[in-house]
Amino acid sequence: MNKHDKIYVAGHKGLVGSAIMRKLQTEGFENIVTRNSAELDLCNQLQVEEFFAKEKPDYVFLAAAKVGGIVANSTYPAEFIYQNIMIASNVINASYKNQVKKLLNLGSSCIYPKLAPQPMKEDCLLTSELESTNEAYAIAKIAAIKLCRYYNEQYGTNFISAMPTNQYGVGDNFNMETAHLLPMLLRRFYLAKLLKNKDFVAIKADLKKYKLGWGLDEKLNIEDENSIIQTLEQIGAYSDKVVVWGDGSPYRELMHSDDLAEACFYLMQNKDYKDIGELVNITDGTDIQLKVLIEMVKQIVGFDGEIVYDTTKPNGTPRKLMDATKIKALGWTPKINLQDGIAKIYEYYIS
Ligand SMILES: NC(=O)c1ccc[n+]([C@@H]2O[C@H](COP(=O)([O-])OP(=O)(O)OC[C@H]3O[C@@H](n4cnc5c(N)ncnc54)[C@H](OP(=O)(O)O)[C@@H]3O)[C@@H](O)[C@H]2O)c1
Repeated sequence: MNKHDKIYVAGHKGLVGSAIMRKLQTEGFENIVTRNSAELDLCNQLQVEEFFAKEKPDYVFLAAAKVGGIVANSTYPAEFIYQNIMIASNVINASYKNQVKKLLNLGSSCIYPKLAPQPMKEDCLLTSELESTNEAYAIAKIAAIKLCRYYNEQYGTNFISAMPTNQYGVGDNFNMETAHLLPMLLRRFYLAKLLKNKDFVAIKADLKKYKLGWGLDEKLNIEDENSIIQTLEQIGAYSDKVVVWGDGSPYRELMHSDDLAEACFYLMQNKDYKDIGELVNITDGTDIQLKVLIEMVKQIVGFDGEIVYDTTKPNGTPRKLMDATKIKALGWTPKINLQDGIAKIYEYYIS
């Protein structure tokens, strides 16, 4: 990419897309074109074709997707498969028809089989059954990888696919019903700390800024301290303890979205389909046990109460780690260590 090239970032307001935007701006790229979903519905083929014919981007980062956790994935599987297949088909086909020089397609680790050997290498794609709770999403993401591959093979395009591990970072979601692991833990510990300090001014400010989810916001009487205490207990935040699901034994992998943006930029600038092949994992190949992560969050937030493990609740998958051999061989490794990354996102959250 040269500074004058036109770059389209699809999904520029999302966690990943906004990190890519920051990276491009830091590197001095100014010819960036964006649309939010109200201005351009990527599920609508006609709108996408008109947009590409008019704007003629040189490079495309495909970071737009309908995403969600286990509950959303299992409740709305038709929406997840339909919208994600439409977004990928429309953007990839329009990129081909409008001679886009390179496209980077973002997928996720859920494309790999449920029982894939750990750490998961790129070549375990489609070797056995997927996890049933997010199969619809995974099938759409696999379709996007295959679209890129077969357009490259038939039409000589240069469309590459990157599969990042779990992300956290600026712009993260702190709604307790839909948040990913880290923002959910940070908010739970922060609210427990405020309860311990009886800082109801700060608690009210937090509750006004972010939804709790699970129908709790509607039931809460924010002017009544007892109502606040009872509501926060329902999300596991008490003045003397924080309750977390499971026994803390599983391992999880986490990456700061600024690192992912670095990887996307690096691949776009330096590597082509011929170097990468069908897909590459974006990971540093290490994970952390939840117990250790939870203790780290507690220290960073500065909560001095107890951690209680609710072992009546499920643990989830014991380990889901991606293999980093290929991305390291391509010359990239992440820079932000977890401790610093968590401190950074905590600062972002409380500011
Ligand atoms: N977050 C993670 O932990 C993670 C991990 C691995 C991979 N990824 C991958 O990274 C990609 C982006 O994820 P994210 O976490 O950044 O998601 P996100 O924060 O939910 O953002 C998704 C973006 O997609 C846009 N979008 C959704 N439907 C659209 C439509 N029909 N038309 C136009 N735009 C649409 C949204 O635009 P509006 O806001 O304008 O509606 C939003 O900007 C996904 O492919 C995901 O699989 C994410």
